[in-house]
Amino acid sequence: MREKENAIDETMHILVERLNHALHIEYTLIIHYPYIAKFIHDEEARNLTIELGTASVHHADVIASIISELGGKPDWSFETLPSEIDLKSFFQNQIAREKRAMELHRGSAAMVPSTPYGKTLGALAEEEEEHIKNAEHIVLLLHNQQQGA
Ligand SMILES: [Fe+2]
Repeated sequence: MREKENAIDETMHILVERLNHALHIEYTLIIHYPYIAKFIHDEEARNLTIELGTASVHHADVIASIISELGGKPDWSFETLPSEIDLKSFFQNQIAREKRAMELHRGSAAMVPSTPYGKTLGALAEEEEEHIKNAEHIVLLLHNQQQGA
């Protein structure tokens, strides 16, 4: 019995670490999205950016809540923006972060498959696929805008 309890504790400890890692890689820049959106002239790209920011804030809230419920402490770490922002590379970097977060959520969901957390994390992973598509579309729109298309 004691061994089983220890194994559950260990799983939850690893899960909290993974969730905090996801918070760190995906969410360190989301706070800047409304600011970044101001520099995007293409209306569709601007709206997608605001949408992505809102969706990511929601994800961060879900992740932070699970961490707290598991007895952990959400490790918020927002990064400052560089003074010169290249929008295209900003979003290319964000795509890589979204992909990493998706893999983490998928793996975390698989750690607790028959629990409500497993279901929630699986749903977040699926939503990350949409975030990736949206971020890729933003890059395409920014590229077209640069080309004067
Ligand atoms: Fe995301």
